[in-house]
Amino acid sequence: MKKIQVKVLVTRKLPKEVEDRLCSNYDVQLNTTDQPMSQSELSFAMSNFDALVTTVSDPLNATVIQTSKRRVNMIANVGVGYSNIDTKVAHNLGILVSNTPDVLTDATADIALLLILSVTRGAYSAERKLRQGRWHGFSLVNDLGRSMQGKVIGIIGMGRIGQATARRALFALGMKVVFYNRSTVTLDFEAKRLSSIEALMAIADVVSVHVPGSGATPTVTAAHIALLKPTAYLINTARGDSIDQTALIVALTEGLIAGAGLDVYTNEPEVPEALRQLDNVTLLPHIGSATEEVRTAMGMIAIDNLDAFFSNAPLPNPVL
Ligand code: DGY
Repeated sequence: MKKIQVKVLVTRKLPKEVEDRLCSNYDVQLNTTDQPMSQSELSFAMSNFDALVTTVSDPLNATVIQTSKRRVNMIANVGVGYSNIDTKVAHNLGILVSNTPDVLTDATADIALLLILSVTRGAYSAERKLRQGRWHGFSLVNDLGRSMQGKVIGIIGMGRIGQATARRALFALGMKVVFYNRSTVTLDFEAKRLSSIEALMAIADVVSVHVPGSGATPTVTAAHIALLKPTAYLINTARGDSIDQTALIVALTEGLIAGAGLDVYTNEPEVPEALRQLDNVTLLPHIGSATEEVRTAMGMIAIDNLDAFFSNAPLPNPVL
């Protein structure tokens, strides 16, 4: 493709192949330090570039997007989620937004599976004991987790990643699947749709959350968390604000639920000390889509959307 004389800002580092393709197509400013950009840097970018390649760490809120003398007309977000962008404000101003779905579905579901296994088998505390030299040999009664075969997984949000997680739970772990989804979905595996999150919370042994965040209130509220069985585990690979994190910490600290596996947090990269102190949680640093293959594919999809925009073609992955 011929190099286009439009200025593109890339807010974070991307895999080399992706940056190379961007640089050969556009007049690009890369972020060589990979430091997240501040709101004022993003506002400056809104009025000095034609397009932005952004990601979850970029708070493109109404104030940033409505920057005076705005020049940006296209935001290619690297991520299936776009809760970092006020898309309503963007759309009102005629700014197009794209995302990078599908390519990260399996990687993210793999992390959900990893979290399920890690918390239900106590992998974190067992490994820490070994690393600290506190393992004194095989025991028939220590470090006992819980078997998942025949247990119930409740999926909240049966979209692509919810379905991929359900499949893993069903076929790899032998769990029974129930789910809550606002609209009807057609599935090619066995799963029972429940009419409310309340009904799901009350019966699930593991709850896995797969709904976008950034709503005014979290989808999984304190009242929902209070309905969980004391033996239940909560898994979140979606967005930190999809669940009431404060209520979750209280439930974990007071032993009201068995544990949690989290890859996302309300105010990343801040992870509350109270959570970090707990033994019955596995905490990952937002690595759901973090494989070389997937991050490269995500970056390439973002460029496909930029290319379409600057060729006046329909975006392959518009956020509507
Ligand atoms: C996604 O794609 O939404 C991941 O969480 C990274 O932002």
